[in-house]
Amino acid sequence: MANLDAPDLVLQPVSVTRKMSASLPRLRDLAQSKGLKIHHLGAGYPHPEVTDPRGFLEHQAAYFAHLENQEGLNDPTVLPEYLRESFSYTDTLGPVTTRQTFANVYGRDWGVNIDIDKLIPTVGATGGINLMCSLAERPGKPVAYITDAPTYAGFTARVSLCQHATIFSVDMDSEGALPEQFRAQIRAARQQGYFVPFYYTVPDGHNPAGFSFSQRRREALLEVAQEEGILIVEDAPYLYINFADPADRPLPFFAMAPEQTVHLFTGSKIGFPGPRVGFLYSQAELAIADGEVVPLAEMALTEASSDMLFQNPSALRGFEALLHDADFNEITSMWVLAENKLGVYRENRKILLRVFDEMLAPHPDHFSWTIPEAGFFSVFTFLQQGITTDDQLIEQLVAEHGVVAIPMYDFYPQDAKQRNPQAGLDQLRISFCFSESTGDARRRDMQEAVRAFCTAALQINGLA
Ligand SMILES: Cc1ncc(COP(=O)(O)O)c(C=O)c1O
Repeated sequence: MANLDAPDLVLQPVSVTRKMSASLPRLRDLAQSKGLKIHHLGAGYPHPEVTDPRGFLEHQAAYFAHLENQEGLNDPTVLPEYLRESFSYTDTLGPVTTRQTFANVYGRDWGVNIDIDKLIPTVGATGGINLMCSLAERPGKPVAYITDAPTYAGFTARVSLCQHATIFSVDMDSEGALPEQFRAQIRAARQQGYFVPFYYTVPDGHNPAGFSFSQRRREALLEVAQEEGILIVEDAPYLYINFADPADRPLPFFAMAPEQTVHLFTGSKIGFPGPRVGFLYSQAELAIADGEVVPLAEMALTEASSDMLFQNPSALRGFEALLHDADFNEITSMWVLAENKLGVYRENRKILLRVFDEMLAPHPDHFSWTIPEAGFFSVFTFLQQGITTDDQLIEQLVAEHGVVAIPMYDFYPQDAKQRNPQAGLDQLRISFCFSESTGDARRRDMQEAVRAFCTAALQINGLA
């Protein structure tokens, strides 16, 4: 007998990435019982080599001491203002100094004049996704979100929490989502009576698709969004985890059209995931009830204030420290921070692509893979019929080769699977961001991991 009758609640299925991490200890034991080393090509976590917080904590302490000095307090019994603020109830918008510093640095990088009153602190990009979905779902009417096929698992997971929300997905080619299908899906959803608030995408270092949208494709998608009157929610965790030449980097949507875009910034990849720092920024305006036109940021702020009241002010102040150099001057650009991380990811990516080239390029009829210009992932495709990248193949990879990779099929929204029941069943997401080792051992482990994967791929194809 239950303590509560809740017949309308539905237990949501667990995502494939969570399923993988839950089954990892069992698979690890299985592999180790056969004397196999575990090769991490599955996890999408920032590398431990670039997320050791000790240097940051020292810098943060020095920055806080600097703030205290600036306050000019000579009486040690008086509580410094920055410290009081860090541990108190505060505004939903968070400390003004953090927003101002972020607006200066980020605005300079992307040529956008960021209005700090429209910069809403979020609990990482995840909090930004949640905020936008809550806002759209609030009226209680059927909502359809447009997104890519495949799309980020955290987005589909959030959408699945709302029983009157659904996804209309858009297939992709090597340049990004298909503009005409994008338009057709918006129209089809509207025709079926859905409110279509936005298109959610990850144009730079797409997770899980493993590539960045071309500049030309971004322009075409933006044109459709403008003509059809929907917003683009741009999730940008990998904007700075970027391997392209500066001259070849496409522009984020918010730099092209801040009034059509909701930009989700996160500190998770450029800084640390733990403090959960993020910002939602948009210059969009919404036509709401009674013909009123209001800034989206104002709606998001009201939503945020009842949802989380305020983001951790101490974490925001810590992020502010990160935006200052050793002499406590505001950094000129976020690319300075990115460089601290990029060394490791550049090397790992290079190893991945080199070993793929060495071992698999001689079989172009059997294998292909994306060349990631940003982010943590490459998508690997088995081109021969008869190979299915289902849970059984994933188990086989671990049990026989010690290789952990993520199957792609679960990243395809339901409607994409209806269009093509085989969607993603020939693909794996290979990540090059994570291993347990550092330095030379990391390089060695990465090379061994990719070699083990390639050996497995060759064997599966009968080419070994
Ligand atoms: C596309 C995408 N969005 C959001 C997130 C989660 O970011 P956050 O830690 O900022 O919530 C991730 C993390 O892997 C991601 O890949």
